[in-house]
Amino acid sequence: MLPLVSALRFVGKLTKPACGCVSLLETRTLSSQIDLQRRMSSQKFANPPKRLDGIDKNVWVEFVQLVLDTKAVNLGQGFPDFFPPDYVTKGLVDAAQNSGPLTNQYTRGFGHPRLIAAISKVYHKFLGRELDPAKEVLITVGAYGSLFCSIMGLVEHGDEVIIIEPYFDCYEPMVKMAGGTPVFIPLRLKDSGSNVLSSADFYLDPAELASKFTSKTKAIVVNTPNNPLGKVYRREELQMIADLCIKHDVVCISDEVYEHMTYNNTEHVRMATLPGMWERTITIGSAGKTFSVTGWKLGWSLGPSYLLKHLQTVHQNCIYTCPTPIQEAVARGFELEFSRMNSEECYFKALAEELKPKRDNMARILTEVGFKPVIPEGGYFMLAEISNMKVDLSSEDPDQPYDYKFVKWMTKNKGLATIPNSAFYSADHKPLAEKFIRFCFIKEDSTLAQAEKIIKDWKASIEG
Ligand SMILES: Cc1ncc(COP(=O)(O)O)c(C=O)c1O
Repeated sequence: MLPLVSALRFVGKLTKPACGCVSLLETRTLSSQIDLQRRMSSQKFANPPKRLDGIDKNVWVEFVQLVLDTKAVNLGQGFPDFFPPDYVTKGLVDAAQNSGPLTNQYTRGFGHPRLIAAISKVYHKFLGRELDPAKEVLITVGAYGSLFCSIMGLVEHGDEVIIIEPYFDCYEPMVKMAGGTPVFIPLRLKDSGSNVLSSADFYLDPAELASKFTSKTKAIVVNTPNNPLGKVYRREELQMIADLCIKHDVVCISDEVYEHMTYNNTEHVRMATLPGMWERTITIGSAGKTFSVTGWKLGWSLGPSYLLKHLQTVHQNCIYTCPTPIQEAVARGFELEFSRMNSEECYFKALAEELKPKRDNMARILTEVGFKPVIPEGGYFMLAEISNMKVDLSSEDPDQPYDYKFVKWMTKNKGLATIPNSAFYSADHKPLAEKFIRFCFIKEDSTLAQAEKIIKDWKASIEG
């Protein structure tokens, strides 16, 4: 009934005459609103279509709102709280104002000509092969759009899709919406004998992975560097996945949005460069991650035309085209970075250099109060084990996983917001994950200092 009450209040606000009495217009509008609400809440709309079954809850919706409500220091969602490079934002203004009127109109649906040309040039270097910009590049609404087009374009009802845990949460609902069945395999944690955990301690068990491939397997989703763990898959690990893909005729959806963010010379190996894998890989990238402009929501899919054409079909019927000025600005960004690719100034390198001390600082801060960080080899997130943190979570809803309760408690009581790790695991495997939470460290040093103060005060209160 609540929506009806708020609808009435809303309508009342719009139509209240200055004298405060109820106008004829108000009475009519109110009754038509009531009728509308009654009709809409009929049985016909009580349940969503089957394809939306069980996917209505979303970690970002819930935890972004919590940050807004509490105004906590936000180490939750994955975005920088600092400006992108100056030339990137100036490029957008200049694109809108000075590249002719057509830059503000629809552009080519599968990607703005200047952008697909620039991306083809850059990835020619990365992938070691020439790309046909018209047929092997698709520009999408963020990497989300690429994931959606890949899964909707390639997965058939009844197909199985292997998803490695932890995984970026939207993979699972997208596979379900496509009518596919997600098949999960968690990374296992080996005992390295070290006191310090590293994302490299999490590994794919070869026999377990092989057992997940069946005659129904259509695709596997690989995310390297991984969100939330920061694991950067080694060549041998990717080769093991590639061998199985080739053996079972399976496509790899390779989410590489953190491709430029690796630390200590850890190499980012691209799945599409392994022998026989270009033909069966969709490589996904994100301008939001690459140029620190997550709000621009622009991404790309690269792959052989016989696969990419199915993604194009989804894109042309759901989105048609992405914003032209943003594509123009990202094209300019790629052109500049291409011209200085091997220099230290190149943003692809400079960003990782900027992030490395933030990563190390984050690990130090967390260790101080008793969290046990997992040092990431890539990306801009850090998992931390919370088993040693003795807190009273009795005020939180007991039906939630432990990490959900912990994060909510910490956000409300300590003013520090993060994301629960089990959000990146399937329902059955959440117990494997709930002793970890995810911190985002692509933040201003002043934001990290605020987090440090919270943590130091917390520690002082524990020591009493
Ligand atoms: C692994 C991974 N894939 C895809 C995305 C979505 O990227 P975009 O903002 O470009 O849609 C994210 C965003 O956090 C991510 O972490």
